[in-house]
Amino acid sequence: MRHPTETNHDETAHDETTQNEAAPNETGPIIAALTSMLACNDLPDPAPADPMPLLLAWFEDARKSERYEDFNAMTLATATPDGLPSARVVLCKAIEPETPALVFYTSYTSRKGEELEANPHAAAVFHWPHARRQARIEGRVRRTTAQESDAYFKTRPLLSRIGAAASRQSAAIASRRELIAEAVRTARRTMTGQQLKRPDNWGGYRIIPDRVELWSARTGRLHDRVLWTRSPEGTWSARRLSA
Ligand SMILES: Cc1cc2nc3c(=O)[nH]c(=O)nc-3n(C[C@H](O)[C@H](O)[C@H](O)COP(=O)(O)O)c2cc1C
Repeated sequence: MRHPTETNHDETAHDETTQNEAAPNETGPIIAALTSMLACNDLPDPAPADPMPLLLAWFEDARKSERYEDFNAMTLATATPDGLPSARVVLCKAIEPETPALVFYTSYTSRKGEELEANPHAAAVFHWPHARRQARIEGRVRRTTAQESDAYFKTRPLLSRIGAAASRQSAAIASRRELIAEAVRTARRTMTGQQLKRPDNWGGYRIIPDRVELWSARTGRLHDRVLWTRSPEGTWSARRLSA
């Protein structure tokens, strides 16, 4: 069921293109509705100097809402050195306001991993429909330390660890049977008491943002947007953008 505060943005566009101009007696309520939008401070005005605490607060709101199986799912875009893009969903495992960074885990030899090794830049997007919010993050990436990747790997369920060890993510395989057979062999090895170690080609990345944009949907497609950019010295500056 759709949340009462959710609207389909296409409906708004449809209204605009199909309805006649407002009659003079309708203009008053429209102007009242428009000015009342100023009272909404989902994105504070003026914007805070640093976007990271606000991004973390939105992330935690999404977690607490319990509306999502994967509140931390983000679309991650990478590109080859000559600029050919590709995108997929990964799970954001941490937002670190101090670093600042977003952390995710993957295979370093997957398609995304190879693109990131050759061109260490990424863009990520969260969409939290219940809150009518979007967050866009862009920046350089660097690997987490081996110790950090080890520590996170140990927290994963056994089946996920087996899967990570058995799969050469993004490589072509002869059949699904072949992949499952490798996972079974890996599982058997762990049953003999051998510790299942993190594969060398599996670990984390940090996206170090130099651009964060927070977007909050408003009626009449007058959405609220703030873009923060970060200087090489680490100073953030904010600009409000037109919807
Ligand atoms: C909800 C969701 C969460 C996912 N989380 C991850 C993740 O955290 N790490 C990962 O490597 N792949 C994750 N995947 C799978 C990726 O989307 C993708 O299929 C895989 O990483 C291979 O991508 P690549 O070939 O572009 O490297 C997730 C997929 C979905 C739908």
